This record gives sequence, C-alpha cells and structure tokens, in this order.
Amino acid sequence: MIESKTQVAIIGGGPSGMLLSLLLHQEGIDNVVLERSTRAHVLSRIRAGVLEWSTVELLRRAGIGKRMDREGHVHNGTQVAWGGEHTLLFDINTYTGRHLMAYGQTAITEDLYQAHDALGSEVHHQVEQVELHELTGQPFVTYTQDGQTHRLNCDAIAGCDGFHGVSRGSIPANVQRNFEKVYPFGWLGILSETPPLDDIWYIQHPDGFALASQRNPMLSRYYVQCDLNDRPEDWSDERFWQTLLERMPPKLAAQVVTGPSIEKSIAPLRSFVTEPMRYGQLFLVGDAAHIVPPTGAKGLNLAMSDVYYLWRALVGRYRHNSEDLVDRYSQVALKRVWDTTRFSWWVTTLLHRFPDQTDFDLRTRLSELQYLSDSPVAMHQLAEQYGGFPIEDWG
Ligand code: FAD
Ligand code: PHB
Repeated sequence: MIESKTQVAIIGGGPSGMLLSLLLHQEGIDNVVLERSTRAHVLSRIRAGVLEWSTVELLRRAGIGKRMDREGHVHNGTQVAWGGEHTLLFDINTYTGRHLMAYGQTAITEDLYQAHDALGSEVHHQVEQVELHELTGQPFVTYTQDGQTHRLNCDAIAGCDGFHGVSRGSIPANVQRNFEKVYPFGWLGILSETPPLDDIWYIQHPDGFALASQRNPMLSRYYVQCDLNDRPEDWSDERFWQTLLERMPPKLAAQVVTGPSIEKSIAPLRSFVTEPMRYGQLFLVGDAAHIVPPTGAKGLNLAMSDVYYLWRALVGRYRHNSEDLVDRYSQVALKRVWDTTRFSWWVTTLLHRFPDQTDFDLRTRLSELQYLSDSPVAMHQLAEQYGGFPIEDWG
C-alpha cells in the first residue's frame, strides 16, 4: 500500500474536478485529482456548448478565459422556431443585460488540462476501485493504479465524478434522498465540419425537437429528439439531415450546410437531484449530485456554480479558519439546483414531443410560445431564468 496525504481529494477529472482543483491550487490549497479514464478519453468528450455569463466570469477568474474570449461566440439569447414560420428570441440581453457564450465543453476541458500542465499539479488518470472511507471522521480514499494499491489521506473529498461515479453512492441511503424524472426520449447529436448557422436555434415540431448549435466557424453541432431505444447506427447521416431539415422552418433549413458527421451519439434525458450535497467531509459537485435535461443548456453551468461555492467554502476553511460557508454549501447549492431543475424541466416539456401527447397538449404548448412572443413580462421571466439564476456572492 502506497500512502500519501493532501488537503482535498478530488474524485473525477471532468470540468468540475479540474476547475475546482485549479482554483484551490491558486489559493495554495493542496489537492489531488483521481480520474478513472485516460486523459485522451476525457479530452474527447463533446457534450456542452453554451455558457451562462457567470460561468464565463468564473473561467476568466481562474485564468483560463483567453481562448474562450478569442474563439467563443457571444449571443444575446437563443432563437426558437415553431409551426414552420414562427420565430422568437429567448432574449436574455434586453431583459437582463447579460449574454450567453457558445464555447464547447471540449475546449474548456483542453484549457483546464493545459493550465494544470503549466502548474504541474497532481492529476492521476486510469485509477481503479476508488473507495471513500471515514467520511464523518478523518477521511481517506483508496484506489488502485498500475496494479498498486494507494491510500490518500485528506481533510475533505470533493465528489466531482459525474452521474455514474462512486461518490454519491458513498453516502448512506438513510441520509440521502433522490428525486428523479426520466424522459421518454433522447437526443441524437452530431458534429460536422460545416459552417454553423449564425444563431443557436431551438426548434419545436410536432414530430419532435431539434437544435442547431455551433462550436467554431467550421464546426457545427446539431441534435434531433430520437427514441429512447435508438442506437447511433440506426441513424445514417442522410436520415439525420433529412429529419433535422424537416423539423426546421423552410427558410432556416435552406441555410443549413450539410456534410459528413464526424461524431454521432445519443444522450438520454433525465432530471435528477440528490439531497444533501454534503455528508461529513464529502461534498458532491456537478453531475455527481444532479442532472438536468440539456434543453436549457444548464448542466455544466450548474456544475460551475457548485465549484464556485465549494471553492469559496474551502478558502473560508483554510485561509480564514471559518466553517461558515462549508456548513452552508449544501443548502445554498441546492437552492440554485432546484431553480435550474425546474426551469430545465419546463423548457424540455415546452419544446419536445411526448409519446402520449394529445392535440390538446400540443395546442397548450403552442399557446405558451405565442404568449412568450406577445408578453414582455413573460419574456422577462424567461430571460432571468435562461440567463442564469443568481449566485450568492461568496467573495
Ligand atoms: P462529468 O463531465 O461527468 O465528469 C466526471 C468525471 O469523473 C469524468 O471524467 C469521469 O470519467 C470521472 N469518474 C467517474 N467515475 C469515477 C470514479 N469512480 N473514479 C474516478 N473518476 C471517475 N451543460 C451546459 O451547461 N450547457 C450545455 O449546452 C450542455 N449541453 C449538453 C449536451 C449534451 C448532449 C449532454 C450529454 C450534456 C450537456 N450539458 C450541458 C451537461 C454537461 O455536459 C455536464 O453537466 C458536465 O459534463 C458536468 O461536469 P462534471 O465534471 O460534473 O461531470
Ligand atoms: C450544444 O451546443 O451542445 C448545446 C446547446 C444548447 C443546449 C444544449 C446543447 O441547450
């Protein structure tokens, strides 16, 4: 057994774990990241594309905003289309003064890994059999790497290991409450090396949702709602483009440049929240604690606000000898989690086709889209939520 020691053990080297680690290092707080996958695998994930302004500011504050500011695409909001002719801007800028930034999670992860390389920080890949111990006492983590067993002693553990990680399951069932809604459809996403549309578009259509997004001037990201049981192999490029273009208003479809897909994958849609987000010295962060369906583009943004709260809480502990923010972490993070969970569920329901949907359901959704178009009050409410819920200022 190889034994070592750190202040904060971080489980998971995705965006949550790597950003938390970077911010803690910058405050002189020692930490070690343990990641199950290879570095190449983590860097190849596609996933999120749209950042709230509070996320943009946090990434800048962490010192990794340069490429984002150079290559990201700033938007006033997101366009919505339905009924073949109607369009509407989910108008964040007019009502809140804020913007969104289109900048992919893949690029953020690259920026994070580059910053860690420059720091020479301890990030261990391909660790196996990670187990968390003594969470309500003096915690430690055991794992194996290259056939060797390790024990990492620490003061706190940040569970940043996503929905399928080990951290959440380390909390005893009798203190944990889970809330879940599984949606009866998925998203099929593709990347293609074609110029994207100028805006991000959400499309409501009686056959199902579609989304046009962007990564850079020669890389587009598109999604269509698909059946839960579909596999990527069921969707030839031809079928994908045909479905996407059929769901779009003809004027918009005419602007899409099609081409071969370079990535194709299916994501199921789920809402999930676990409470509490702290147990003893274990703090859950990001997808380890909550999942939202991607329709509102909130998952990564929510993960980043958890990182912010936990970072400030640990700075309070180590730099100011105060447990105040540590003790408030779960409650404050969960407030924003539930606000965002509600919003993501609502926008998913508004824009998707449900298998048991009736004509009545469809008409009420169309009426709601029309109401958003007609009422500045309704749009103001939407803009506040879509632009990002407030983050309590923890310094
Ligand atoms: P993850 O990214 O899941 O990282 C967890 C890490 O932990 C992984 O690297 C994993 O390998 C590692 N790990 C797992 N188990 C273990 C273990 N036992 N030991 C050690 N390591 C382990 N969000 C947005 O904000 N905007 C968007 O536009 C958006 N679009 C999306 C589109 C799609 C199709 C999908 C699927 C998601 C989207 N999201 C979006 C959500 C976003 O991608 C996630 O919320 C985000 O990845 C969460 O980051 P995380 O670091 O918490 O978790
Ligand atoms: C993306 O660009 O991948 C994206 C954009 C908006 C969403 C979800 C994903 O709501």
